[in-house]
Amino acid sequence: MDVKNRLEMVTRLVNHQVEILELGNKIQNQIKGDFDKSQREYFLRQQLTAITEELGEGEDEGKVEVEEYRSKLEAMDLPEEARKEAERELSRLARMHPSSAEYTVASTYLDWITSLPWNIRTEDNLDIKRARKILDEDHYGLEKAKRRVIEYLAVRKLKPDTKGPILCFAGPPGTGKTSLGASIARALGRKFIRISLGGVRDEAEIRGHRRTYVGALPGRIIQGLRRAESKNPVFMLDEIDKLGSDFRGDPSSALLEVLDPQQNHTFVDHYLDVSFDLSEVMFITTANILETIPPALLDRLEVIELPGYTLDEKLKIAERYLIPRQVIENGLNPGQIRFTKAAKKEIISSYTREAGVRNLEREIANVCRGVASSVASGEITKAVIGVKNLYKYLGPPKVVSEIGTRISKPGVVIGLAWTPVGGELLFIEATAMKGNKELILTGQLGDVMKESAMAALSFMRSNAEAVGVDRDFYEKMDIHIHVPAGAIQKDGPSAGVAILTALASLLTQRPIKKDLAMTGEITLRGAVLPVGGIKDKVLAAHRWGIKTVILPKWNKKDLDDVPKDVQKDIRFHFVDEMMDVIKLALSSKRVNVTSGAVIEGS
Ligand SMILES: Nc1ncnc2c1ncn2[C@@H]1O[C@H](COP(=O)(O)OP(=O)(O)O)[C@@H](O)[C@H]1O
Ligand SMILES: [Mg+2]
Repeated sequence: MDVKNRLEMVTRLVNHQVEILELGNKIQNQIKGDFDKSQREYFLRQQLTAITEELGEGEDEGKVEVEEYRSKLEAMDLPEEARKEAERELSRLARMHPSSAEYTVASTYLDWITSLPWNIRTEDNLDIKRARKILDEDHYGLEKAKRRVIEYLAVRKLKPDTKGPILCFAGPPGTGKTSLGASIARALGRKFIRISLGGVRDEAEIRGHRRTYVGALPGRIIQGLRRAESKNPVFMLDEIDKLGSDFRGDPSSALLEVLDPQQNHTFVDHYLDVSFDLSEVMFITTANILETIPPALLDRLEVIELPGYTLDEKLKIAERYLIPRQVIENGLNPGQIRFTKAAKKEIISSYTREAGVRNLEREIANVCRGVASSVASGEITKAVIGVKNLYKYLGPPKVVSEIGTRISKPGVVIGLAWTPVGGELLFIEATAMKGNKELILTGQLGDVMKESAMAALSFMRSNAEAVGVDRDFYEKMDIHIHVPAGAIQKDGPSAGVAILTALASLLTQRPIKKDLAMTGEITLRGAVLPVGGIKDKVLAAHRWGIKTVILPKWNKKDLDDVPKDVQKDIRFHFVDEMMDVIKLALSSKRVNVTSGAVIEGS
């Protein structure tokens, strides 16, 4: 009953209640605030629509647009099916409010319909002489491809409704595949459209998304035709070998339909949902390699190979096309810069090493830019580019010929490899050390190549004496085979002959003859089997200045495809027996591997 205590307790209770009430009040206020705001917004919106309706503004805007589409559609020459669909969409549009989302969807659709070249075509120029002249103007050489194009024109001229085959230009990068397509369009007087299929994985990229998707668009074929503004352009499907496929569907099956002359007059894009006639389009495809093209697709294509250029051809391409173009592109006039022949050759062989001419053009551009900047700054008025000033513009040579230094020791052989960017030299090195019958294989070799190495070793062991090696050589020895240029995965059976020769060279201590390269598969019994890519491989050997090439006998016919001026620079040996390879490849000198001293021998 103590008054002080009781008052203290009352104060505490009252304070507690006050706090609860204050908090409740705060929350109440907050909620009311939120509610007021949304209500305010709602009222405002209601008023806004009421006002625009009252003024009839939005409607009018929509009406004008609808009328525009209507008159456009009337003026157009549309197929019946497309007209029906467009008119249906148009009447839907007329009933919609311009600010609604569906309105935009419908008007986008009508935009597409009204801007496609349903019945617009360019007149073909079938003057064959003129076409030939244009093709020659744009590209040097490429005889086979040009002849095929001219034949195509000739047939078109005689029989206008022929469905031509679909050409596929195949070859390493920079050999003129894409630009040849553009040139064909120019020769025919058609529009040129190019789409790159590299990395396309989604069927919808070819065929479009259904209109029900948010942000749906037609596929690339229809998009290309809209850009072409003509229904008969030359349509290049670039890099068809890089087409992917995954869970989003298989774009190659859509392409099959696009490229099939029996079906493509009724090609249906999912977005348009009506058929578009693709039968007058001239499709051309390009690829680096044919292996990754889906077989059904490849079956439709007529492959024309563009295998890469010889040194001579590159020189002519540089003189007639690349240099004049780069001179102008870099703001110089032809009198201000001159390349000596030696300098051109030097750029080709010491600054680039490629099947095509893309890097060559880049290096020429570098020189032109350097000269342009000196001319612009008033240092010089004109420049003559000789071998000596290349260093100034391009730096030290980028490609050093290592052949001489690398293969002077026994156990090193040059193989010829095939890659998607053309042929390449493959150095194969073998070495032996004290050990315990182990075979070490390095250089990112694939399984097939590893097996070739094992087969080669077994052959050496079973034929040691015939090759001239101690029969028990492997007893206290480890052998290591390495294929440098390390980061690149290497596989395939075609290095077999080279691996076996490397082993024979190592074990007999006889180095390989100078400037010699080889390719071929081996069997356990030492037979040499044919391999692919001969033309690319021989061109690569020629680029590197190889003088002698050993090839499987069965590949002899493949030499027909190799240009004559390359053939005359190289001596070919055709073999079907490993013993013959060893006889041909090993020099008679013996070099002691450890001391490097030359031991005169057999
Ligand atoms: N035979 C040739 N004659 C003239 N220029 C060529 C020739 N081959 C290639 N080029 C040029 O080389 C460059 C690369 O060609 P491009 O068509 O892009 O090669 P790809 O598509 O085969 O990779 C282009 O500038 C092209 O004009
Ligand atoms: Mg290309």
